[in-house]
Amino acid sequence: MGLATFEATANIAVAKYWGKRDEKLILPKEGSLSFTMDDQLKTRTSVLFSPALKEDEFWLNGKKMDMADKDTAERLQQIEIIRQKAGIKDKAKIVSLNCFPTAAGFASSAAGLAALACAASKAAGLDLSTEELSILARLGSGSACRSVLGGFVEWKKGIKPDGSDSYAEQIAPASRWPELRNVIAIGDSGKKKVSSRAGMKQTVATSALYPARLAYMPKLITDMKAAVAAKDFAKFGELTMRESSNMHAVMLDTWPPIMYLNDVSKRIIYAVHDYNAAAGGIVAAYTFDAGPNAHVYTTEERVPALRKMLSEIEGVEKTMVCKVGEGPKQLKEGHLLSPDGTVLKHRFDEASGKIIIE
Ligand code: PMV
Repeated sequence: MGLATFEATANIAVAKYWGKRDEKLILPKEGSLSFTMDDQLKTRTSVLFSPALKEDEFWLNGKKMDMADKDTAERLQQIEIIRQKAGIKDKAKIVSLNCFPTAAGFASSAAGLAALACAASKAAGLDLSTEELSILARLGSGSACRSVLGGFVEWKKGIKPDGSDSYAEQIAPASRWPELRNVIAIGDSGKKKVSSRAGMKQTVATSALYPARLAYMPKLITDMKAAVAAKDFAKFGELTMRESSNMHAVMLDTWPPIMYLNDVSKRIIYAVHDYNAAAGGIVAAYTFDAGPNAHVYTTEERVPALRKMLSEIEGVEKTMVCKVGEGPKQLKEGHLLSPDGTVLKHRFDEASGKIIIE
């Protein structure tokens, strides 16, 4: 019991989660599949449970957050469950630092809430299974339930009303497809206009196309798993791109419409199709989440040419290349707070990619 620190990384879905059947428990309408990224897209989180603390406290990127804020309270609902599981009443101090390039504009919730599930349960003296950790992370943000595992991950939608069968499982470790890369093309760092939480709720409520999406998802997931098991990039790539477009189609069909793709995203879509045509087959595949930045999956030998091609597109400001990652890890040093509850001065140094703790 006491202090624990974990790092977890973002995941980028290829069969995407967009729509809940239970808003409070964050249970999805359908399953989803993702690759967990390497530690270029990580969050470090330290958690302390202590009888000396008077109230729960949450520090994000060096700022003390308002615990009365509804969104913050919802995201941290796992803390109370961890206290119950551990049979403790101690208050928690949570210090979390996102180590993403600031220009990247990533929704950092998946890495952050996966790191929180791991660090908070360990700090409370619990030794949970990945299933249990996945369920805790899910309560903060759906996609976070996939970041408690490395490699290629499936979130099973489950059917039970209490959500006890809705968690992520590893389908294949990172070593299964070591050549796979995600070339990220970043063109816009602005805050998104509609949060994924609000956006997907609106889609479920209003989109006439959404039932068609739900009908297509089970076969997509089966086909996608087969393509990854066979390392069949052409198949995987086609499914990935069509799935991204399918999700963005139901977003556009939402009322009022939701549009996360911008002109830069659209130029990237056309450019990737031209690139594949020139290569004589599908060797690169884009996918877009609830934002305009492109994640272009490809294989290692294609990275230099693809990266050059993407960086020359008008409006692309930065590119970065991620491998598939191994999942969360516990740190024995580099805590963001000390055992007496003092928050240590810390920051992410983008140039070196390191966390500086003073
Ligand atoms: O879990 P949230 O609220 O961050 O929603 C994530 C939704 C997508 O990123 C668009 C798709 C996905 O499966 O990650």
